[in-house]
Amino acid sequence: MPITTQQLIRFKREGRPIVVLTAWDFLMAQVLDQAGVDVILVGDSLAMVALGYETTLPLTLDEMLHHGKAVRRGIKNALLVLDLPFMTYQESPEQAMRSAGRALKEAGVQAVKLEGGHPAMAETVARLVQVGIPVMGHVGLTPQSVHQFGGFRKQGTSEAAGERILQEAIALQTAGAFSVVLEHIPPDLALQISQKLTIPTIGIGAGANCDGQVLVTPDLLGLTEHKPPFAKAYTNLRDTVTTAVQEFAAEVRDHRFPAG
Ligand code: KIV
Repeated sequence: MPITTQQLIRFKREGRPIVVLTAWDFLMAQVLDQAGVDVILVGDSLAMVALGYETTLPLTLDEMLHHGKAVRRGIKNALLVLDLPFMTYQESPEQAMRSAGRALKEAGVQAVKLEGGHPAMAETVARLVQVGIPVMGHVGLTPQSVHQFGGFRKQGTSEAAGERILQEAIALQTAGAFSVVLEHIPPDLALQISQKLTIPTIGIGAGANCDGQVLVTPDLLGLTEHKPPFAKAYTNLRDTVTTAVQEFAAEVRDHRFPAG
């Protein structure tokens, strides 16, 4: 049975951790879906990890939709969420509705994710939810604000900053978000937010006490050259792929492939 946003809220009530991973193409989406991942996120980490940009800022909505459509074709059960790229929703609720509307209509995603929980963003979330567009929030280290943060730094390390992030998460829930990502914040702050909210928190670099966890899939697979300090590689595909490619090259150069 396909996963729904309501089901994720039930998972939190039942204490069943939620598994979230990123995908940007059909093949990976199919593998993750068949492996039983609950939520597949077309994350805008695409910009840095797959497209080689230094930040997520250059990504356009058309580029995201192109990848979203491919991912859609690979999924049967997981809930599909797509990140709205930088400056495709911050301008106004109307702009956010146009962008999110395209994501649902053209790429067939079931929800969008956007960054920030300040009052204007909470209002945007409320407007999206009012017209039937499910929203996943994202607070803490919000990569689209990298220049304001002065780098991809841990957030919420002072009491005041922690309180601000807590209030943003509450505002997103009040606005109708069905879930909120907590990125790179202290674990005790993530625990406090997770206990306060009735919607699930999805952690990345936020400790073990969130209602679910998300990783950028190439980090989990050990494909990325530099992964964030909080990511865990469960295998080393970079070495595996390198060895396979070197073997292929050697066999081609020695006239051993193809055989005969
Ligand atoms: O873009 C992304 O992959 C994300 C996750 C890290 C949460 O936003």
